[in-house]
Amino acid sequence: MANIQSLRGMKDILKEDSELFTYFIKNSSKIASRYGFSYLETPILEETALFKRSVGESSDIVGKEMYQFIDKGDNDVCLRPEGTAGVVRMFVQNKLDRAGGTNRFFYHGPMFRYERPQKGRLRQFHQFGCESFGEQSVYEDANIILMLSEILSFFGIEYQLQLNSLGCKDCMPSYKQNLVAHLEDLTLCEDCNRRITTNPIRVLDCKNESCQNELKDAPKITNSLCEVCDADFSKLKTILDNNGIKYTVDSNLVRGLDYYTKTAFEFVSSNIGAQSAIAGGGRYDRLVEFLGGRETPAIGFAIGIERLLELIVKKDEPKELLYIGAMSQDASDLVFTLVNQKRKTQEVITDYKVRNFNKHLKNAQKANATIVALIGDNELKDNTIWIKNLNTKEEKTINIEEL
Ligand code: HAM
Repeated sequence: MANIQSLRGMKDILKEDSELFTYFIKNSSKIASRYGFSYLETPILEETALFKRSVGESSDIVGKEMYQFIDKGDNDVCLRPEGTAGVVRMFVQNKLDRAGGTNRFFYHGPMFRYERPQKGRLRQFHQFGCESFGEQSVYEDANIILMLSEILSFFGIEYQLQLNSLGCKDCMPSYKQNLVAHLEDLTLCEDCNRRITTNPIRVLDCKNESCQNELKDAPKITNSLCEVCDADFSKLKTILDNNGIKYTVDSNLVRGLDYYTKTAFEFVSSNIGAQSAIAGGGRYDRLVEFLGGRETPAIGFAIGIERLLELIVKKDEPKELLYIGAMSQDASDLVFTLVNQKRKTQEVITDYKVRNFNKHLKNAQKANATIVALIGDNELKDNTIWIKNLNTKEEKTINIEEL
């Protein structure tokens, strides 16, 4: 019988990857906290209706990629394909929309999309996300983009920022009408023809080359913004310019989720292959209301952690790893006690088995220890311990208390 394997598109995170993973979470959490975001967790499983209402039935995520099933209580549930919907559900459920003020949250965890797996595209992947509620000011859009670029820069990641404005409830409907009128005369792929009726702006980011050729003269949303959206978009660009953030405006950037209004952005990297988006986000000023809350402006983003791990340049944190070992049965108890005492202040590894001198040294070298400390019968008798610094090669015997 064949051994059981992990599911397609789902992978174990171990060794170097798991180290990078925790390194990423630790440092990006620190940066988000400095910007006023506090940690939050929402369940991985939610009612399917939550994603239908927020991410949108016309999106590929809801239309084709949900891990959806009926649970034992006959509830239609779904593994979350993204984090924003759950955070907004939490926000409304806890009546934070009524309290007013600004609320900023960050989260990280697994997301699930039944996509065709390829490099950089998994069925279970992880996001680090931030969501900010209650700020209408375009300074918050800039704040979010600055924070995200600080996170990426901290990890030594080179990126390009693509920016767009999708307008609001005043300017988007008339733009959509103009777009549909234009699209109806074009020869487009089957998916695009369907999108003309479900969500015409999604036609703009079709990856099909012949559709892109057809779309050359399509009206641009950035030419149809109302006065407020236009002024906000200009102001955002000025703030980014003043703060040294480079970007390109891509009026075809519509994002794959239906809840966006006004600012939309994507951070892409040319160093990771076809799946080049490492983070994306934008404003979703209407979503709190769609999910039953009071109208509340909101903006956020999510980073794809697996894609980022491919690019991270880890800064070496000085680390001292101590290896303590017993060379006689009688020294074992003392070694165990010492290991636990030293672990209160530093990382310590050991081998529970009694080993000879050479075997302990080999163990320590293999584990990249910096200091090896060994006790045998002689040391036990003298209340001493033999230590060697594996970097400087210096070795000496010291009193146990000195360790
Ligand atoms: P998204 O663009 O769908 O946005 O996903 C954000 C990031 O997750 C992507 O840029 C990508 O790096 C990563 N990602 C997406 N799908 C996969 C996959 N199948 N395998 C590996 N990585 C993937 C959202 O999810 C929004 N909730 C972001 C947001 C937050 N907007 C406002 N607030």
